[in-house]
Amino acid sequence: MNFKITTIPGDGIGPEIVAEARKVLERVGEVYGHEFAFEEVLMGGCSIDAYGEPLTDETIEKCKAADAVLMGSIGGKVGQSSWYELPPEKRPEAGLLKLRKSLGLFCNLRPAKLYPELKKACPLKEDIAEQGFDVMMVRELTGGLYFGYRKTETVDGEEVATDTLTYRESEIRRIAKKAFEIAEKRNRKVTSVDKANVLDSSRLWRKIFAEEAKAYENVTLENALVDSTAMQLIRNPGQFDVVATENMFGDILSDEMAEIAGSLGMLPSASLREDSFGLYEPSGGSAPDIAGQNIANPLATILSAAMLLRYSFNLGKEADAIENAVSEVLAQGFRTGDIMDKEEKGLTLLHTDEMGDKIAELIK
Ligand code: IPM
Ligand code: MG
Repeated sequence: MNFKITTIPGDGIGPEIVAEARKVLERVGEVYGHEFAFEEVLMGGCSIDAYGEPLTDETIEKCKAADAVLMGSIGGKVGQSSWYELPPEKRPEAGLLKLRKSLGLFCNLRPAKLYPELKKACPLKEDIAEQGFDVMMVRELTGGLYFGYRKTETVDGEEVATDTLTYRESEIRRIAKKAFEIAEKRNRKVTSVDKANVLDSSRLWRKIFAEEAKAYENVTLENALVDSTAMQLIRNPGQFDVVATENMFGDILSDEMAEIAGSLGMLPSASLREDSFGLYEPSGGSAPDIAGQNIANPLATILSAAMLLRYSFNLGKEADAIENAVSEVLAQGFRTGDIMDKEEKGLTLLHTDEMGDKIAELIK
């Protein structure tokens, strides 16, 4: 079949890791007889440099015209890059938030599992790491604090900054449905995470989740507070199946999950709307410190490409092939620096492009 993929390499390590995911997709195309047509667009800091804004209308249109979008990462280092001297709405991150909103990508999936080979890279206690975990984070992506009214003003001679956290019932309902549907295909448990002991938005969140749960009799719904969840993820991550939460809590908890899974370089993500269209990106950032050195871990981006095949193109077999190749490469002892354990014998350190080659070779 023929598919159109718009790529957004972005900033920092973005271009390097997207190149590897594209290499793997091209290999999948050859092996399974699909035609992937790629078109590259700018977003983030590179778009500011080229056009003076982080996201142009043309980039939005080219994303809309594709069947799916594959992204690397955007942004630089605050304090070091001139991008952060611009007003907030002109900075790289504003481009990503606007793109998610413009494309209606309200449902963000971040699967974190501990590969048996990476148990040593897991910072948790050995007996906990030994048990492993496989958590699917469902993060609401176009509402809440990141999209609320905000301003900074001077009141009584001092600066006052305000951000607002708003959720509409319909926004909570649609993400709840997604969480329950995903849980039905997994271990049938949803942990809805909120701060209902303090926040009104969380109390509404909890109420709507309870209402929606009624339609999914075979799925268990649990409620948990975000502070306690942050702790439980470290104490006993194996208790979780699907974790569903609002935008900011999901942003924070998903980085924590990435760390316990060994590295941010291993965590893929899918951002979906109601239909099959989606944007796929690694959960990690642009890592400007290591950009251009060919040492970044491309696996999160490659695994994001697998999610793209599964969720947007309905190519499950092809997605499995990529995921199996990743497991195999890890089992064979190949590592990038972030997941390298210097004390473990028999491991081989690979560059970014060599890791991409290894995965591509294993797609058969
Ligand atoms: C992420 C990132 C973004 C977010 C930033 C870059 C706006 O941290 O995808 O998790 O907060 O959503
Ligand atoms: Mg984040």
